[in-house]
Amino acid sequence: MFSILKRSSDFIKRNPSLLYSLLLIILIPATLYYNTFSTINSFQKNIDYELQTKALLAESIFTVFAPDILKNPEILQQKIEKIAKENPEITTIKVILPEKEKFKIIASKDTKEIEKEISTTAIDLAWSQNQTIAHLTAEGRERFWEVVKPFSDLEGENIGLVSMSMSLRSIDLLVLRTVRNSYIILISAILLSLFLIIHHTQLFKYPILLKKLQEIDRMKDEFLRMALHELQSPIVNIRGYIESLREEITDLATEEQKEYLSRVSLSAKNLSDLIYDMLEVSRIEQGRLDFTPQKISPQKIIDELIKEFTPKANAKGLKLIFQPKEEPYLINVNPHRFKQILTNLIENAIKYTKKGEIEISTWYSEVKKKYFIAIRDTGLGISAEAQKRLFEKFYRVKTRETAVIPGTGLGLWICKEICQRMGGEILLESMEGVGSKFIIFFPFVK
Ligand SMILES: Nc1ncnc2c1ncn2[C@@H]1O[C@H](COP(=O)(O)OP(=O)(O)OP(=O)(O)O)[C@@H](O)[C@H]1O
Ligand SMILES: [Mg+2]
Repeated sequence: MFSILKRSSDFIKRNPSLLYSLLLIILIPATLYYNTFSTINSFQKNIDYELQTKALLAESIFTVFAPDILKNPEILQQKIEKIAKENPEITTIKVILPEKEKFKIIASKDTKEIEKEISTTAIDLAWSQNQTIAHLTAEGRERFWEVVKPFSDLEGENIGLVSMSMSLRSIDLLVLRTVRNSYIILISAILLSLFLIIHHTQLFKYPILLKKLQEIDRMKDEFLRMALHELQSPIVNIRGYIESLREEITDLATEEQKEYLSRVSLSAKNLSDLIYDMLEVSRIEQGRLDFTPQKISPQKIIDELIKEFTPKANAKGLKLIFQPKEEPYLINVNPHRFKQILTNLIENAIKYTKKGEIEISTWYSEVKKKYFIAIRDTGLGISAEAQKRLFEKFYRVKTRETAVIPGTGLGLWICKEICQRMGGEILLESMEGVGSKFIIFFPFVK
């Protein structure tokens, strides 16, 4: 029992919206119920009062002329019948006169009552206290307003009583119908609320499902990381053996065999690059990459990279240009990650340029407090259409020229992510067939 309560309270804590919706589900019908029944109640009270007033008014009018026509019972009877006919809600109306300590009916809607004696508490009270007595009575399910009013002669002496009862049947029927309708509305509201609860509990499944999916996603990432990690060593071995083989069989092998071997070597390199890039992606996504910043001079790192990449560029007949200069500013980034961005961009520039040059330039803006580095090439360039998707994961430009260039389409995504995580940005200006210029910038420090 305790554990069920604890589990429910835990569930509510995890999904506070449940409490909110439960509250709504109770509050909506409750408000509806309260509103309907308080309205009906006051409506009924008002109608009762109205009817009572009407009864009193009718009697008042009647008592004004009653003394005059008292001498003529036939006219009195006619008047009574007329009033009863015009007001169908009047069930009884009679004129009563005192006679030897008793009361006698001298005119009545029900002619059989004429000349009969009558004795009720209301009559006694009205007569003895000389005031109108109005009270509610009921016969079965039907309610009546019974009003007894004394009337007097010209000298002010009480001479008789008028007793009248008015049925509340039509009003009660109206109220009953309204109550019935409001029950229908109430039940509909409760059903609707229940539907909402059911629908809501369906919705509660989504956060649970989301959690499960996140867990599966995490497991998938973990599996991928492990698989990639395990793939690393064999691929390093394969590449090592291929290189040894290439060196050892140089003289013995035919040109065809050498060609096959260099293709195997290239494929192994591509596979190794892919594993490396994907491991990098998984490290970024799982937040396992070190971004500890250091104040560094970009000039020094760029110069080192230029030295590293010049042979590769020259082998393709490309010029790699950079003029180091003295600058007053530093940037606060992780040096390995910064180097990684530049390596990617320089590699791309060499990879996608057939002839011409690759120039790296730096500048800073005192106004924007930013340090800029641009890598410009005279390569294939990138169409405006392709530029929109260039920084997406696995996106590669598909043209006749790029089709033969190996790559994973992860390099620029990695660059952008690393750049942003170190407070920087990456921009691109490019024209197809002319060349590209990738610009990265970071806030500078002194
Ligand atoms: N300097 C450039 N000139 C022309 N096209 C470029 C340049 N840099 C990138 N691209 C285009 O952008 C695409 C995405 O580049 P990205 O570096 O992300 O992937 P990749 O070079 O194909 O593979 P890798 O993950 O090995 O770097 C490339 O396939 C290429 O078509
Ligand atoms: Mg690349």
